[in-house]
Amino acid sequence: MRKYLIAGNWKMNMGPSEAKEMADELAAAWKGKTFNSEALICPPYVSIPFVVKAFRDTAFQTGSQNVHTKDNGAYTGEISTTMLKELTCSYVIVGHSERREYFGETDEVVAAKTHRVLQEELNAIVCVGEKLEQRKDNSYKNVVKKQVAAALEAGDSNDADRFVIAYEPVWAIGTGETATAEQAQEMHEYIRSLITETWGGEASDKVRILYGGSMKPGNAEELLSQKDVDGGLIGGASLKADSFSEILEIAERINK
Ligand code: PGA
Repeated sequence: MRKYLIAGNWKMNMGPSEAKEMADELAAAWKGKTFNSEALICPPYVSIPFVVKAFRDTAFQTGSQNVHTKDNGAYTGEISTTMLKELTCSYVIVGHSERREYFGETDEVVAAKTHRVLQEELNAIVCVGEKLEQRKDNSYKNVVKKQVAAALEAGDSNDADRFVIAYEPVWAIGTGETATAEQAQEMHEYIRSLITETWGGEASDKVRILYGGSMKPGNAEELLSQKDVDGGLIGGASLKADSFSEILEIAERINK
């Protein structure tokens, strides 16, 4: 059975003091509770130590929004998996559409980062998803197929437990517009079929496929109830302890 993964992507929000405040709030709200799901927050790098500390006696995990492929050296401004592991991060988001769009990350770069994360025995959340024009001109499945294929090349079926795909249609990110539950399920099922083709059925059954794009308390239940939706990658609604907790509660309640 696949455990839900409810992941908050704080993007470039929440510096150390705000991050500490919100992580303390989450820790207090869920004090002494264990989850059936996995709950994760990915803060900006500078805030990671504060969030890790706040989550110390909780079931919350901390992750990163990005990573470099090398271990150390002359790569100004970059961060390695070794550094993230030292901070006890367990997950790394790779290839978010904002990284692809604003920082020129190609499928090849995303694959190299995914490879590094898996090799280092961290969990990878690889983001895929089409833009609005690709949805409109019906090329969206091909776009996602290419992105998923590149990510699958980065590992093999033995990595299935630590390999997560986040399907995030770009037109639904931060726009308030959400894919319908049917649109999400259609794509998640398609993505799972691609994983089955490459890694086999046993592995694809283990891979979690998250939905991302304006997930919030009001639509989480319908989305999470879909057969192939195994959690959410949540931006805006993860910036408030209340709304993030509400989504987590919904996942805990459905616990399919
Ligand atoms: P959103 O962001 O929930 O604000 O749409 C999701 C994401 O970009 O991961």
